[in-house]
Amino acid sequence: MGREEQYDVENKSNEQRKGCYVSSLAASFIVVVFAVIVIAVGFIVYLTGTQGNFQCNCEFPGNTANGNKAGQVASTKSPPGDDCRNPNNACGSDVLVSVHWLNRKLFRGEKLGKSCIQVLDISWVPGSTDSGRELYEQGHIPGAQFYNFSECNGGGIGELPERTCFVSQMRRLGVTRDTHVVLYDSVAAPNQSKMVYEFQLYGHLRVSILDGSIEKWTTDGYINTTDIPANIMPGDFTLNYNPDLIMDYAGVVKAVGSNDTEVVDARGRDEFSGKTQFGELKKGHMPGAKNVEYKMLFNPDMTYKTPQELERMFIDGNVDLDKEMVVTCRSGVAATGLAVAAYIIGKTAPVYDMSWEEWSRLAPDSLIVID
Ligand SMILES: *[C@@H]1O[C@H](CO)[C@@H](O)[C@H](O)[C@H]1NC(C)=O
Ligand SMILES: *[C@@H]1O[C@H](CO)[C@@H](O)[C@H](O)[C@H]1NC(C)=O
Ligand SMILES: *[C@@H]1O[C@H](CO)[C@@H](O)[C@H](O)[C@H]1NC(C)=O
Ligand SMILES: *[C@@H]1O[C@H](CO)[C@@H](O)[C@H](O)[C@H]1NC(C)=O
Repeated sequence: MGREEQYDVENKSNEQRKGCYVSSLAASFIVVVFAVIVIAVGFIVYLTGTQGNFQCNCEFPGNTANGNKAGQVASTKSPPGDDCRNPNNACGSDVLVSVHWLNRKLFRGEKLGKSCIQVLDISWVPGSTDSGRELYEQGHIPGAQFYNFSECNGGGIGELPERTCFVSQMRRLGVTRDTHVVLYDSVAAPNQSKMVYEFQLYGHLRVSILDGSIEKWTTDGYINTTDIPANIMPGDFTLNYNPDLIMDYAGVVKAVGSNDTEVVDARGRDEFSGKTQFGELKKGHMPGAKNVEYKMLFNPDMTYKTPQELERMFIDGNVDLDKEMVVTCRSGVAATGLAVAAYIIGKTAPVYDMSWEEWSRLAPDSLIVID
């Protein structure tokens, strides 16, 4: 049945039909004007949102519902399974994000450079100032900026970055209080957990490691680029130091002597047990310390094991997960891997930042054990 026939069936006169036509023309006109207004307003909002100093709105459930408050490290369990690695899952709140998640966010969700996500390439080659930068320039994740470890760490080697310097570098890289920082290192995996830990210690909890780094990104078929982002709008990154996440010598002496804290050491088995010795450092470990080797945290492709596997790993290392935990290693870098693993299974583990390098010098023989 055609349109005319329909009108005939409804017994409408030509006049009526004409009137109907005219008023529908007017209605269309109003709809078009309305649509133009909506598009214009939308465009203005878009421009303000992308170029102004905006409140970003990306989902970041869980630990930072009220923004980044120091001392609010997640105490909730990670979602069951490896949800953060599932490309269909919006989990960006955890300390790990998958390459699939990042790709989806960057290219199908919030647009690069205008979003809450800032990818940082933290490649750092031990003993060199600019080799990390060279690697970055050879290829990085689109939109990623280079974080220069040497700038604030006085050359690296495990130290924490100088705070004022860290703040100004972050601001220069466009990191705001709301930015979800996703970081990767193409050289040394321990530096990823070290850097995530530094953000947490400095009170910025919207931070994740790109699970498997750029290597997995490339292996899984995602593109990299040599384009360097330009015209970065400075961010308003601020620092809220959280002393609960760090422990000094006196704190660890106390932990060693107490029954309610587990000291977990990330060094290799032989170094931990005192079978081998590193440089001038004394052999051995802290009394009662448990050994969970750093290398055990990862799958062969350097992605982190699942929360269940990580939990099992602590339990197999005789760690009582109902107790408090403090993590240590030789220089304070690998220990942050344990801190990340603890975080993944819902525990907050302060890091003994000076680790065995200091303990070996300060501790009396009674506080050094050889198996
Ligand atoms: C960038 O992509 C090319 C082509 O897939 C690959 O050969 C290269 O290794 C990648 N670079 C990095 C740093 O992953
Ligand atoms: C990184 O920082 C160090 C120390 O300030 C400096 O010498 C080096 O030129 C910086 N590298 C880059 C690529 O900015
Ligand atoms: C990065 O990792 C390397 C190798 O583990 C380590 O020697 C270096 O101290 C780390 N850099 C920083 C700044 O922590
Ligand atoms: C720790 O436990 C042991 C054995 O259960 C007990 O002898 C010791 O007094 C306890 N130490 C502290 C500090 O509570």
